[in-house]
Amino acid sequence: MKKIVVFCILCLSFFSLKAQQKKIWNETEQEKKERLAWWTNDRFGMFVHWGTYSLAGRHEKVKKNEKMTDEKYQKYFDNFNPDLYNPQEWAKLAKAAGMKYAVITTKHHEGFTLFDSEYTEYKVTNTPYGKDALKEWVEAFRAEGLKIGFYYSIIDWHHPDYTIDRIHPKAPKNEKQYKELNKGRDMGKYRKYLKNQVTEILTNYGKVDMLWMDFSFPGKHGKGKDDWDSVALMKLIRKLQPEIIVNDRLDIEEYEGGWDFTTPEQFKVNEWPTYNGEKIPWETCQTFSGSWGYYRDEMSWKNNKQLLVLLIETVSKGGNVLLNVGPTGRGEIDYRAESALLKMGDWMKYNSRSIYGCTQAPQDFEVPENSLFTYNEETKRLYIHLLDYPIQNFTLKGMKGKIKYIQFLHDASEIKITKPHGFGPGAGGGLGENDINLQLPVVKPNIEIPVIEIVLN
Ligand code: GLC
Repeated sequence: MKKIVVFCILCLSFFSLKAQQKKIWNETEQEKKERLAWWTNDRFGMFVHWGTYSLAGRHEKVKKNEKMTDEKYQKYFDNFNPDLYNPQEWAKLAKAAGMKYAVITTKHHEGFTLFDSEYTEYKVTNTPYGKDALKEWVEAFRAEGLKIGFYYSIIDWHHPDYTIDRIHPKAPKNEKQYKELNKGRDMGKYRKYLKNQVTEILTNYGKVDMLWMDFSFPGKHGKGKDDWDSVALMKLIRKLQPEIIVNDRLDIEEYEGGWDFTTPEQFKVNEWPTYNGEKIPWETCQTFSGSWGYYRDEMSWKNNKQLLVLLIETVSKGGNVLLNVGPTGRGEIDYRAESALLKMGDWMKYNSRSIYGCTQAPQDFEVPENSLFTYNEETKRLYIHLLDYPIQNFTLKGMKGKIKYIQFLHDASEIKITKPHGFGPGAGGGLGENDINLQLPVVKPNIEIPVIEIVLN
């Protein structure tokens, strides 16, 4: 009996220790909600991928894709001199598009830092450009009232202590070669470097609103939380910037406080993502044309409607969009990205009320064909986005008695509830007792995706 008691006590203390270990910091659900409030409200941000790979102009992973040696890759560093770099223009463009925050690559997988670091020579201040480009960026974006975020690659294809793994440009074909290549490389030193640089970016640039760490790939010849020392790293991050919002790529999903939101990349989710059965904050990161870094010859650009649908659909499932630009080696946002952003801005100018502060609509509202709902819980307004503009009759099922007022969002013109228009067999059919019919103008409003705003009772 005594033995059983001792065993139980041991078990209990083991599990409580385990539970404690899985906690990175103390915060209630409510506190987390408040910390994330600006971001869940804002919904739309700009991602910026800019580095020495921008000079190659054929993908941010060109070093790996073409298995370049450090020597071969060096030319992009030696020629990095973005004479047209004017982050004020980038910030104005982001704002014109309706974006409210922006996240920039302070260091990408190539290892080059856009900031002046004490811990490396492989940094922007040592290129012909010679200035701390990150500092200029932060000042410009803050001045436009945008929140600022830093992307930081935990992967590093330049650091001499970073071990060769399966996604490294030097990744070999067989086991023996891994051993040989990694002789003398010391991840312990790299972990220290990581912490030092993260400390620099979270100390030298004032308040940082977001941190985007990229990325873990556990498994054979991969890297995960132990390789990065993710738990200690995250504790450091929380200590340096207690209000910061951090993504989920450090491989510590099971730790409380180990991440704030999830990051579906380059695809549309079918439904609001969950973790342990709970809906979680999420942000999808997307490109205009497939690559993150500037890619001169890429032709798969999404059109205005696709981009708007992406944004609306994301909000209709409770998420955010982080839409990427890959500025050129001269420091300009590509004309195709600029025009896409301006077009989104045209729509946002009239319709952003259906985006900011909005989320998934209550599930008891039935969504009509070819449309997307968003909903503002505070103002109790429902937004119907008409993806394929109908002909006059527009039925809303089960909405009778729930509506105070209906208008188009873009021009605040009233939309009337009428009997369905039409004559002949079947006309007026299909309208149930609790359904209503809206009478829309025949001519589609001059808006890519018109929005109906319904003030609910
Ligand atoms: C992937 C890519 C990286 C890009 C990131 C953005 O992790 O490796 O190049 O920066 O996605 O989410």
